[in-house]
Amino acid sequence: MKQDSSSATSVPRFAAASAPGKLILCGEHAVVYGQPAIALPLSDIRAHVEIVAGAPGSGLRLNAPDLGRAWIADAHPDDPLSELVTCTLHHLEAFLTDLDITLTSTIPIAGGMGSGAAIATALVRALASYLGHTLPPDAISALVYASEQRFHGTPSGIDNTVIAYEQPIWFERRETNLIEPMTIAAPLTLVVGDTGIRSATRLPVGEVRRRWQEDPAHYEQLFDQVGTLVRQVREALATGDNAALGPLLNANQILLEQIGVSSPELEHLVAAARSAGAPAAKLSGAGWGGVMFALTDAETHTAVVTALHQAGATRVLETTIHATP
Ligand code: PMV
Repeated sequence: MKQDSSSATSVPRFAAASAPGKLILCGEHAVVYGQPAIALPLSDIRAHVEIVAGAPGSGLRLNAPDLGRAWIADAHPDDPLSELVTCTLHHLEAFLTDLDITLTSTIPIAGGMGSGAAIATALVRALASYLGHTLPPDAISALVYASEQRFHGTPSGIDNTVIAYEQPIWFERRETNLIEPMTIAAPLTLVVGDTGIRSATRLPVGEVRRRWQEDPAHYEQLFDQVGTLVRQVREALATGDNAALGPLLNANQILLEQIGVSSPELEHLVAAARSAGAPAAKLSGAGWGGVMFALTDAETHTAVVTALHQAGATRVLETTIHATP
């Protein structure tokens, strides 16, 4: 049954929701071609959406102060977030005309930490909550994926999945994606360094596709090697063998360089973290900019944080991935 803002007296006047950022631990890019990848939610770095009823006739207003933008969905129907509002209301069979929607986020934008998918997930959750619905993670993930697909080329679906489920996941792109919760036997301490360089995901993803089309055998062999490493990382995480992670994640960085998605700025931060004692450092996400992360331990953590600042990281974020119960 359709709900109308004017007639549905049960509709609350306020709703708020949030969603985490994410890091791809290993397997990015190769995951687009069917290899596995491991992604982690970053629960302390989040996007937030608040919705209040708008004045009658004011329209569906979106306000994104972090982006310096405010707009009316109907006036910009092709905007990804306008479209997501429309699709989500359609999915919920709701008809709301006047809403004030505010989107904020502490996740670096276009930096490989899933800021777009996190904002989209928080938006879908907030709209559902405003209407008194609770959408299951798979439904949220599907709505966000459809939106990402329209605007980001050939997304594997990993971002929307790890963010909507908010747990470490093993992800394989299939006709029906294989999504498994990961076992993490020992906590991981990570330091994320931001190059400050913004790169839209679809650009390196598109370039990798072009190169793969030109030389499929070479690229598939690189993707296969990534897949082998990711399986070994799963084993190390499941047994709490964090010492084994260093060489595996560093080898993944070399393969990403060979695939062509690293950059001098990323490699500068990776080298700084390793020189400060980090057993592993690699880019995370689409590359050509965005973020890298380093694995640290009690002895190396502070030195790695300092080294990344000194090497010019525009942001340095510290986060712990807790062992799974
Ligand atoms: O940089 P991000 O967070 O958009 O991650 C992209 C990950 C890729 O594997 C490069 C693409 C994808 O859709 O999986």
